[in-house]
Amino acid sequence: MAKLAINGGKPVRKKPFPGWPIFGKEEEREILKVLRSGKWWMYAYSPIEFASGKVKGLSYVEKFERKFAEVQKVKHCIAVNSGSSALEICVRALGIGPGDEVITTPYTFIATVMCVLNHYALPVFVDIDPETYQIDANKIEEAITERTKAIIPVHFSGNMPDMDKIMEISKKYNLKVIEDAAHAHYVFYKDGRSAGGIGDMGIFSFQQSKNLTAGEGGAITTNDDKLAELSWSLRHYGREKNGLWYEHVRLGWNLRMSEFQGALLLTQLKRLKKQTEIRMKNYNYLVELLKDLPGIKPIKLNPKQKTFSHHLAILRYFPEEWDNIPLEKILKAMEAEGIPLSSGYLYPLYHNPLFKNLDFSSDSPFMKGRKNPIDYEKFKETCKNVEEVCKGRTIWIVHRLLLGTKKDMEDIAEGFYKLRKNIDELK
Ligand SMILES: Cc1ncc(COP(=O)(O)O)c(C=O)c1O
Repeated sequence: MAKLAINGGKPVRKKPFPGWPIFGKEEEREILKVLRSGKWWMYAYSPIEFASGKVKGLSYVEKFERKFAEVQKVKHCIAVNSGSSALEICVRALGIGPGDEVITTPYTFIATVMCVLNHYALPVFVDIDPETYQIDANKIEEAITERTKAIIPVHFSGNMPDMDKIMEISKKYNLKVIEDAAHAHYVFYKDGRSAGGIGDMGIFSFQQSKNLTAGEGGAITTNDDKLAELSWSLRHYGREKNGLWYEHVRLGWNLRMSEFQGALLLTQLKRLKKQTEIRMKNYNYLVELLKDLPGIKPIKLNPKQKTFSHHLAILRYFPEEWDNIPLEKILKAMEAEGIPLSSGYLYPLYHNPLFKNLDFSSDSPFMKGRKNPIDYEKFKETCKNVEEVCKGRTIWIVHRLLLGTKKDMEDIAEGFYKLRKNIDELK
């Protein structure tokens, strides 16, 4: 008789894992407060009202900015409507534009590079370390040209690349650093430095799937006063803090966050530390449980880090140790056991059709100062590790699964061991 649930056996579990997002009475109360106040916009708290003494305190968005900066241990936070918007602002604030190149990882979400391309600069990809899935800092120098203007390290999954090496390189070659910390809320080094507080600028996402969320939302973080002022202005149609309302001194956008988002994030922020601790504890327990399982290994975590967001728990799958059973089959079998997992990206970023459709005609801004276009397909020759991990060798466990109990971790491990024991049923 079949043992595996995919073949009709009894599943390891039927109970769902914790849902996401998590909210309660406080969120309800704060959202209703905003609703009933009629102040749904951060500038509904106008200077006139402040002067009249009718309004006490700051808008929710401003309160959130202060609180998030404090929690994340950076001097400034500028809240915006998405992580992608935060990236656009960073690229604009640092003066990246036509003719420039920006070095980043090919194992990330498209937003990391779309901000570069939207400014007619070009991303240059450096391979990942297959053990950490982070950009291999030792390969960055080889990719630097006279056009390189910045590096965008991504703290993918809440693990960090070697930021010391990256900062050392940035100083040596006078490059700017934008940390894509979309996954790295409440992530700190042991020495106190924080994700989003090491480079010139950092960004966070508060989109629904993220560890801190308001459905949509984002933030820029920086310790630089001038970049903070500039980011504020770029978010707000190129206004200046001391300028008139209809006075615009530079190009910009409306990328503001609403008061509903601000209020929601302030309450969600109160849950962040505890949730991070639960994820870390459960992750460590799961890793311990999986230690005798052949062919499935967790990625290496940065030993300098004190906290990990585990936005994703990443496991490496070695099909050669599983009789070459395709990952897809393993994931389907785990799903049937009641354990939803994902394979993540199916190809590195540079294989997206977008890169074939870039305008490299002679009068295109992408060609400024450049003799030849970049052939993005060629990165497959220098980024062999990322090519490999995307070919059915990666398992993502989304963070909500780590928010449950010890028993939940035992079930995940049991699912894997059950598949292993009954491997013949998968052939
Ligand atoms: C690594 C990374 N950077 C940036 C973003 C963009 O964030 P948002 O969806 O808030 O625009 C995401 C979103 O998934 C992401 O995963």
